[in-house]
Amino acid sequence: MVRGLRVLRYVVVAVTLLLIIYKVSNKDVDLSEYTKKFGNVNSLRGTTGGLHGGKAEEDVSAPATTAGNSSPAPAQPNAADGLASTYERQNATFVTLARNQDLWAVVGSIREVEDRYNHKYHYDWVFLNDAEFTEEFKTIVSSFVSGKAVFGHIPPEHWSYPDWIDQEKAALVREEMNEKKIIYGFSEPYRHMCRFESGFFWRNPALDAYKYYWRVEPHIKLFCDIDYDLFAFMKNNKKSYGFTISLYEYEATIETLWKTVKGFMAEYPQHIHPNNALNFISDDGGETYNLCHFWSNFEVGDLDFWRSDAYRAFFDYLDKAGGFFYERWGDAPVHSIAAALLMDRSELHYFNDVGYWHVPFQNCPVDEETRRRLHCTCPSDDSLPPDQRNIFTWRGYSCTPRFHKVQGLERPKGWIEHTDK
Ligand SMILES: *[C@@H]1O[C@H](CO)[C@@H](O)[C@H](O)[C@H]1NC(C)=O
Repeated sequence: MVRGLRVLRYVVVAVTLLLIIYKVSNKDVDLSEYTKKFGNVNSLRGTTGGLHGGKAEEDVSAPATTAGNSSPAPAQPNAADGLASTYERQNATFVTLARNQDLWAVVGSIREVEDRYNHKYHYDWVFLNDAEFTEEFKTIVSSFVSGKAVFGHIPPEHWSYPDWIDQEKAALVREEMNEKKIIYGFSEPYRHMCRFESGFFWRNPALDAYKYYWRVEPHIKLFCDIDYDLFAFMKNNKKSYGFTISLYEYEATIETLWKTVKGFMAEYPQHIHPNNALNFISDDGGETYNLCHFWSNFEVGDLDFWRSDAYRAFFDYLDKAGGFFYERWGDAPVHSIAAALLMDRSELHYFNDVGYWHVPFQNCPVDEETRRRLHCTCPSDDSLPPDQRNIFTWRGYSCTPRFHKVQGLERPKGWIEHTDK
């Protein structure tokens, strides 16, 4: 009797398992049928790749391309996305600098961006690397991007010493900065990266086809839905540089940067915009730099700005001065100073509603209504490490309050709850 019951239980469990397997595999079939029927591979590819790893391969081979032959796909209004038929796809792409070993951190960032934003728009994504991407990297990454994934190679001349740099002098500086424990002061690749992001990412052929870009780094998080097209926002509001976090730079990394910038301003006054934002980066009319900069690991911007004669002249001037190697100039102050001096100040934009985290700071909307509407998961609870808990934007080390002041912007409701007291 007891034995009979046990057998019966096995049978029931086995049948249930079979039913579950049948259901799941049936779903797969349904999904691919749907894909075939509506021909919109892109809108489902992210989901398929994410939930049913085995199906990714057949989908990725076609959209993955190499640098040079990319161009934005035509608009694909899709009723399922809830986009109006008047929706106009922008000439834009994501761009990520990555190494092969960053694969899963890159996938994490893609997932954040796709889930909160790009599943509605399917913008392309350009990946850049100074080494060759592995097949594994390309296949896996392509399966997570809902637009086209493009893999570009960084030529050696964009990631090496220009001939006017004394490499022994540079090595001695690294040694000295290491002893002084200056962050990344010891690192040679970090310097190549900063110089690359300042002067070369926008020259990579893989980006030639695009106007707007959104820079995404490995390991980032997005805390809120983004319920509008950021690229269309940039275009419609004549914005050229958008940020989420701004802060003060470590002075020890840029000791002669401002002196060099002043040299540039004196020599090339024609490139300084008459309606610039100098008072964001200087408290004394340009005599000294107040160290404020936009945190460039997040940027939504206009590539044509970096491609302009004004910015090229600016970068070349800084590059000749050698501070990328003889000090440790970051691309964040370089981009920020350029944006503040060479653009019309109205082209700068703070994205209050983009909840963003990159170790160790976060930006999140402070007003409850916005947070609920955008399903924000801004972490504030004790379950998280302290560096992930606080909204940085309205605190002492942030330059964003100053940005509001000099731009004459109203602060969002609730900011006062998120200040240092
Ligand atoms: C996209 O923008 C780039 C840079 O401004 C431009 O060269 C290219 O022609 C544009 N492509 C389309 C399809 O408009």
